[in-house]
Amino acid sequence: MTVTDHLDGAYLRQALEQDVRTGLTSSPKWLPPKWFYDAAGSELFSEITRLAEYYPTRRELDILRRHAIEIARLSRADTLVELGSGTSEKTVLLLDALAAMGTLRAYTPVDVDAVTLEAAAARLAARYPRLDVRPVRADFERHLSLLPRTGRRLVAFLGGTIGNLPPAAREVFLKELRATLRPGDTLLLGTDLVKDRGRLVAAYDDALGVTAAFNRNVLHVINRELDADFPPEAFQHVALYDEDNEWIEMRLRATRPMRVGIRALGLDISFDDGEEMRTEISAKFRHEGVADELAKAGFSVTRWLTDPAGDFALTLASPRPSARA
Ligand code: SAH
Ligand code: AVI
Repeated sequence: MTVTDHLDGAYLRQALEQDVRTGLTSSPKWLPPKWFYDAAGSELFSEITRLAEYYPTRRELDILRRHAIEIARLSRADTLVELGSGTSEKTVLLLDALAAMGTLRAYTPVDVDAVTLEAAAARLAARYPRLDVRPVRADFERHLSLLPRTGRRLVAFLGGTIGNLPPAAREVFLKELRATLRPGDTLLLGTDLVKDRGRLVAAYDDALGVTAAFNRNVLHVINRELDADFPPEAFQHVALYDEDNEWIEMRLRATRPMRVGIRALGLDISFDDGEEMRTEISAKFRHEGVADELAKAGFSVTRWLTDPAGDFALTLASPRPSARA
């Protein structure tokens, strides 16, 4: 299986160096969530999706079980492109529906984590022998314009991963995505919805501590890649719900004062006792908000699909013809 790789060693290293330097020399400190996902981080995320408290994956699966045929019928896509595809577990529902329609030809999973991407692509190529599986290792915040544009495409961005982008980055992302789409292409967007604070916080602070291990994994990644000496166990996992912004924030809190060396960057970073650095936001959405953001980026919403409990939504949208077209 050949993976098209837009994240060769030098690129990835430079991007990590830049993010870590910028984030850890800011006040307050922060790190972007894409660095959670090495092989260990992706495995921890898979474990999260099976936790009792983490409802989004089950709810999205539920929506796909009920509506995959309708999505396939409306999109009439021959090519499924999936951004942040991870293990591609939910994807089989879309692939089965597109195959049943008789339109399916190609699948392009796109992810930053090479190990998970290759394993998922190989599994799906074995399951669908006539499917042209073309995995692409890329950063969906930087490489959308490099993704294959052939065929009538359904671009799926599942899991609520769009909520991990801050609002300004989300706006840029959606506009860039819109610019790569052609008439006939469709976007399928997964978003977690605003709900009771207790359930939200529990989903990001599970009793088994899997989310805590996932959160700390970013420190293991920096230690390994940038020759740093973070003591991950000296950082406490924090998950809180910000009611004003309607997002979950994950943080790592230093449990003692410390100095951390990041040798590859020649940096020495001090943490006060109790100092917190933000490692992820996970925005929760409302129908109007999703519709507004999509409209602003040049999409028209065709379907708003939720699970019966109203926990999660899948939005089907098409590129609105631009004024110049
Ligand atoms: N779509 C799957 C996985 C969600 S986890 C699901 O719904 O369960 C988020 C996935 O996005 C991970 O596999 C991670 O490696 C990938 N990812 C995170 N940031 C990314 C980025 N900037 N570019 C490409 N992939 C990214
Ligand atoms: C991938 N993303 C949608 C997950 C989320 O729910 O924001 C990542 C995650 N972080 C903690 N748990 C899961």
